[in-house]
Amino acid sequence: MNALELNAICKSFGSQRALDNVTLAVPTGSRTVIVGPSGSGKTTLLRMIAGFEFPDSGSLSLNGQILLDSTHEVPAHQRRIGYVPQDGALFPHMSVAANIGFGLATKGPARDERIAELMDSVALDANMATRWPHELSGGQQQRVALARALAQQPRLMLLDEPFSALDTGLRAAMRKMVARLLADAGVTAILVTHDQSEALSFADQLAVMRQGRLVQAGQPLELYQHPRDEQTALFLGEAVLMPAKIKDGWADCDLGPIAVNHQGNSEMAQIMLRPEQLQLNIASTGSPGCHGVVTERDFGGNTCTLTVTLLAGKFEPGRSLPVHCAGLLAPPIGSAVQLTTLGRAHVLNN
Ligand SMILES: Nc1ncnc2c1ncn2[C@@H]1O[C@H](COP(=O)(O)OP(=O)(O)O)[C@@H](O)[C@H]1O
Ligand SMILES: [Mg+2]
Repeated sequence: MNALELNAICKSFGSQRALDNVTLAVPTGSRTVIVGPSGSGKTTLLRMIAGFEFPDSGSLSLNGQILLDSTHEVPAHQRRIGYVPQDGALFPHMSVAANIGFGLATKGPARDERIAELMDSVALDANMATRWPHELSGGQQQRVALARALAQQPRLMLLDEPFSALDTGLRAAMRKMVARLLADAGVTAILVTHDQSEALSFADQLAVMRQGRLVQAGQPLELYQHPRDEQTALFLGEAVLMPAKIKDGWADCDLGPIAVNHQGNSEMAQIMLRPEQLQLNIASTGSPGCHGVVTERDFGGNTCTLTVTLLAGKFEPGRSLPVHCAGLLAPPIGSAVQLTTLGRAHVLNN
């Protein structure tokens, strides 16, 4: 069953179209990640779901209840939707405990107990209850904001770039903690980010936005393997893009014939492989299996990204391709190599 359903949402600010006909269903208990470059409309969409922004047209419902259409409008405070805005937005003049307890109806010891419970659930030490927001690190502030949103027992949790202010190590730890917390609480969540690796790792469902439009939605692996177009392919990771002639399930390209996941035939198409689909073997120069030469080497510890410049190719000889290999096994610059492809190539729409 779907918790949230957005139907044909449009929103303009003056002549700026912030949301262009956005339709999306968020399954109950899932983690949906909305990913897109800055300015693509992600925050506007979250604010609309929370009830702080109103569409020009379209409708939205939560657990079958209409929150907004042309005749109904449920105000933000009656939606039971938790919202953690991009900057955390804690009340600066309130202690941690007061921030977390802000929306709690209970008083006295029961209230203190609930605040302590919420602090524990986001791994905040109990002695931080009396601190002020400015005495907390970025990660701690985010956890207070999260606890404050959880205190409302939301039906849906919205998180706007919650990890963007944190450094890399803390980011990964917070991401795991939040994922576990949401799963334990069984809360449906939508997280917004502009970071593709964060999106791929956190999402059950990934929705890609660009210029106010929802370009593609689906499981992360499905989008990574079968992006709709070149921009989406490149937004979700490194990609090897090549022109090819498609016939009967095969792409004829600069690397020879490669199997594709495509039914139709086409004289000129663009195919995509992820760099990890290219496997590299040392070849002797001039041998029939030799495809190219290593021309660049970017050592990154456990993986190394090599640039292989192709020697021949009917479409574009001299084309360079990124290839990943284990850092310790990376051949030196100048090595002649053969490339084997793993799996199928994906044919992109133009
Ligand atoms: N209150 C507003 N007034 C005018 N323009 C806005 C307002 N909010 C957002 N926009 C514009 O709408 C577009 C989408 O913004 P936003 O939703 O914040 O994108 P994102 O969160 O993906 O970076 C941007 O071009 C932004 O400038
Ligand atoms: Mg934003």
